[in-house]
Amino acid sequence: MKMKRDHGNALLSLIVGMTIMGTSVGASENLSKWLRPEAVPAPKDNQITPERVELGTFLYFDTRLSRDGTVSCATCHNEANGWSDGVPKAIGIEGREGPRNSPTVLNSAYQIRQFWDGRAKTLEEQALGPIEADVEMDIDLDELLKRLNNIEGYKVLFENAYPGEGITRDTLAKAIATFERTVVSTEAPFDRYIKGDQNAIDDNAKQGFALFTGKAHCTDCHDGFNFTDGSFHNLGLGDADEGRYGLKKRAAWFHAFKTPTLRDVTKSGPYFHDGSIKTLAEATAVCGNGGRFPNSEKVSPLIVDRGLNQEELELLVDFLKTLEGEPLNIKEPTQFPQ
Ligand code: HEC
Ligand code: HEC
Repeated sequence: MKMKRDHGNALLSLIVGMTIMGTSVGASENLSKWLRPEAVPAPKDNQITPERVELGTFLYFDTRLSRDGTVSCATCHNEANGWSDGVPKAIGIEGREGPRNSPTVLNSAYQIRQFWDGRAKTLEEQALGPIEADVEMDIDLDELLKRLNNIEGYKVLFENAYPGEGITRDTLAKAIATFERTVVSTEAPFDRYIKGDQNAIDDNAKQGFALFTGKAHCTDCHDGFNFTDGSFHNLGLGDADEGRYGLKKRAAWFHAFKTPTLRDVTKSGPYFHDGSIKTLAEATAVCGNGGRFPNSEKVSPLIVDRGLNQEELELLVDFLKTLEGEPLNIKEPTQFPQ
């Protein structure tokens, strides 16, 4: 099985490598790294089943998971806003503004760590945080569990999904995480191009891709199928947020934030952990031309002024647009368990 797959990828990179050599992505470039992993990763004790997806979907969209019944996960992570919310900083219960921008949850299933500073390892670990956060859903977990235990429909759904385990912190987190594992990017023009369809993206985007992997060094950080190295970098944004340094006082984490995915990035603005950047052109210029304040303290050594001119920045944006896939096949429930 494994051998067969590797063989297929090798052949593919050879073919694609040969055909796009003209745009300076050489045959040596390993194109198979851009291909979708075979399966969405899920922990052994929380494999994806239809019952868990069904339950998780209800929970994700259900505003009864917040203290006053006004906010759900989807308030800040909805498909219309690229699984984010379209505002610079998250707005939770009673209009309270949080300290950071809501990242997309698209492809969070593939991430090694969750949150801008990586403070949660798994989606299960992440899921309960926003429920209790006072600027998000602001409800005591024990109170929420009581609330859910009083809803007959949820009792049945939890029993179907996690037989004999009941409605607990654990099963609540697992069900929400399972839903998130269905929020996975669909095939984009870029994917068809990588698989060999030369007409899937236009010449500008091809040149943009060559810049992305070449002169602009974007792949130093935005690499592989999900366009992230899973690591944390200081882009010299110059704001007060310490990022990962707030968790671990290592010099490399000084004002460092997680490299976000670029899949469907056309939809998920405004950008960056502080929501300070409105357009992809601006984001590209900050990342590619030395950060916002190149002389600020401990900017990542990978953030270098690549001397990208206006035309090159536009070509990079043309490429980023080819990462936009079709809408996901996820329906927001209109009726919830009673
Ligand atoms: C009020 C808006 C808000 C609500 C409601 C909310 N989130 Fe978030 N979410 C955020 C913000 C802001 C962050 C980033 C926080 C940080 O990094 O410190 C985040 C981060 C995440 C991440 C990490 C993504 C990444 O790339 O690191 C996931 C996954 C996530 N939220 C899922 C959920 C789930 C599931 C719920 C419901 C239980 C939820 N969120 C409710 C605003 C919200
Ligand atoms: C040193 C690693 C690194 C390099 C190189 C890099 N980026 Fe980034 N990129 C990041 C990080 C980290 C963030 C988030 C920074 C933050 O919020 O503080 C980011 C954010 C972005 C965003 C905004 C995404 C969002 O959801 O907020 C875009 C778009 C982007 N980068 C594109 C590019 C392009 C195009 C290049 C090449 C010109 C590039 N990046 C080079 C690390 C990098």
